[in-house]
Amino acid sequence: MRIDILTLFPEAVRPMMDSSILGRAAKKGLIEINCIQIRDFTDNKQQQVDDYPYGGGWGCVMMAQPLKACLDHVTAQAGPRRRRVIYMSPQGARFDQGHARRLVSEYDHLVLVCGHYEGVDERFIQLCCDEELSVGDFVLTGGEIPAMAVADSVCRMVPGVLSDPACYMGESHWDGLLEYPQYTRPETWEGLTVPEVLRRGVHRDIEAWRREQQLIRTRERRPDLFEAFRPQTEADKRTVDRLTGREKLVYDCRPAAAEDIPALLSITAEASAYMKECGVDQWQDGFPNAEVFARDIAAGGCWLFTHNGAPAGVVSLYMTPEADYARIRGAWRTQDRPYATVHRTAVKAAYRGRGLADEMLQLCEDLALGRGVGSVRADTHANNAAMRRLLERRGYECCGSVTLTDTVEKDPERVCYEKVLL
Ligand SMILES: C[S@@+](CC[C@H](N)C(=O)[O-])C[C@H]1O[C@@H](n2cnc3c(N)ncnc32)[C@H](O)[C@@H]1O
Repeated sequence: MRIDILTLFPEAVRPMMDSSILGRAAKKGLIEINCIQIRDFTDNKQQQVDDYPYGGGWGCVMMAQPLKACLDHVTAQAGPRRRRVIYMSPQGARFDQGHARRLVSEYDHLVLVCGHYEGVDERFIQLCCDEELSVGDFVLTGGEIPAMAVADSVCRMVPGVLSDPACYMGESHWDGLLEYPQYTRPETWEGLTVPEVLRRGVHRDIEAWRREQQLIRTRERRPDLFEAFRPQTEADKRTVDRLTGREKLVYDCRPAAAEDIPALLSITAEASAYMKECGVDQWQDGFPNAEVFARDIAAGGCWLFTHNGAPAGVVSLYMTPEADYARIRGAWRTQDRPYATVHRTAVKAAYRGRGLADEMLQLCEDLALGRGVGSVRADTHANNAAMRRLLERRGYECCGSVTLTDTVEKDPERVCYEKVLL
């Protein structure tokens, strides 16, 4: 694979392309990455490469002539090949692993054109480029970083660059899923221990665990990918059915009473353990305790969810204002209106990923609406990624952060969310 990167800043690109795995692959002759200075191909004495935009406006536009001359030079030098000329552009198709796979399998010469300033004269793109690729919905100062990203992701799939195709075939985005969590030594670090199944070393169990983790992660972090994923085995199908609740569990729910407190604590104990496993320092200081639940129950806002009579989840809901919320650093979505607040959302391990947390939040939203309350708020630790994803998936918006004054937890900082219902 030969890649020519046409740029005004070859000195910025060269070191990156020459280092590590790609540098070694180039030395072995598996790939060739050239960084070509566009300025060397100007036909004016000042070596000017850009000029003011027709019609006025900010900045300068890169001229077509030096770009075309530079492109002609590399195509002549490379000779007839399966070539693709790509303009790196925030207006292009969003680059992903699928593009990288296509480029590595269909071409052996890529020319990556890096724009700068306000971009490139449209006529060069029209006449000389086969496609435009973007690395995301944001604007960079130049196409160099995008070109390096494309070159890197393509080159690592050139045969021989990595030690085995399995190195990239099992990774995130290969078959539409994210990769499973990875661990290395030591076995325990900062109180967090490598999952038991990996330490036991039974190959079949490890494979099954990893596949399940891929599905769980993808569903939690990239619902769009999960939605598009088609199960490839019976085991995949069973996991997908379980995660999506197609194998639907029916939960009962009722206001908790004082005698339910041990059950509520058994649920939050499992949630605390899970958070610890995930490196979240929430609920690690004996909170929530029996006193907290007694208060929730007295306020009439604590709900116990059960499955076949067994405790499955708990959530508390308050309809009264939270004093600390008035000191938000940021801005709530609603001002001077009544709101409900969700607290202590916890699910037993056996019901994780089985639609229960959604049902619990749905109940809170229904209860709020039933009382004519038009919005629901919640707060959580900044690193409680699972809770944040749940809230965001359900349409809660991050509004800022608060410092809780009435908490026994070591870290009183919380991020705040609000969902407007009415
Ligand atoms: C400041 S940008 C020009 C943006 C252009 N005026 C627009 O609004 O579409 C300068 C150059 O950076 C590169 N660039 C910026 N963002 C990019 C992205 N998300 N993906 C690929 N290339 C990008 C392009 O080569 C572009 O010509």
